Amino acid sequence: MMMKKIYGILGDPVAHSLSPVMHNAAFEKLGMDAVYLAFRVSKAELEDAIRGAKSLGIAGLNVTIPLKEKALLFVDAEEVAKKIGAINTIDFGSGTPMGYNTDGIGSMQVLKETVGELKGENVLIIGAGGAAKAIAFYLYLEGAKVTLANRTKERAAQLAATLSNADAIGLGAEFKKQIKASDILINATSVGMHPHEDATLVNADMMHQDLVVFDIVYNPVETKLLKEAKRAGVKKIVDGVKMLVYQGAASFKIWTKEEPPIEVMEKAVTDALASE
Ligand code: ATR
Repeated sequence: MMMKKIYGILGDPVAHSLSPVMHNAAFEKLGMDAVYLAFRVSKAELEDAIRGAKSLGIAGLNVTIPLKEKALLFVDAEEVAKKIGAINTIDFGSGTPMGYNTDGIGSMQVLKETVGELKGENVLIIGAGGAAKAIAFYLYLEGAKVTLANRTKERAAQLAATLSNADAIGLGAEFKKQIKASDILINATSVGMHPHEDATLVNADMMHQDLVVFDIVYNPVETKLLKEAKRAGVKKIVDGVKMLVYQGAASFKIWTKEEPPIEVMEKAVTDALASE
């Protein structure tokens, strides 16, 4: 008899992750004998956890905050993930833990659906953490013109230096000016996330009507930033649910080699968010 396959997410905190609900819905839809669980693991215990997972025959893992960068040390990672400096997916299928980063892939899929061709687009990314890094790197590969705006300008400058055509700015006057010159604005910080739902780094009066506004925060689905975007009447508004679903779907495919049931996964996430 085949044993049930076990997948999971490592993070700290991780109790509120929607990945279990999303992946379990996919397993159920495809009739797979598999389960996806959340494991709270500290940075100090990460190496043991990954080794232990391999010994226990766990099939695949996601890693999330604050483990994405450190996890790279304990896996054999794909080149892109090494360049980004972070992973969010581990596959144990080949015996050796293999690391991947599907955050960037997820965001590109979302942007291509909403904007189409990204080459030559002026994209302003707010943030310089793990999520910003993955998005910036993929946008760079797509040929977009990337500007990184971060509270700590130095961090943005360090990231920009790894992408040959990116600029780095702070969140002051030059930020306001750059928004006016941008086609796409992406919030890749945690600003606006529950329980700080009234926070935003950009208000309606800073936006313009040809702007696409994308927030990677998905809890709440309509963040203050997106409310402001609505008020400004911007061209397109993209919430964080799709990115969560697409990065999850990309991980699912790596682990199972099956076509992920995207709509079922998205519904599981939106239902869970609505019942919170
Ligand atoms: P992650 O890996 O999830 O992206 P991170 O590495 O902690 O997380 O990065 C969080 C990002 O949100 C950073 O860009 C951070 O800015 P700093 O580099 O200046 O710390 C940004 N951020 C978090 N809270 C913020 C706030 N209240 N105002 C502005 N930026 C904020």
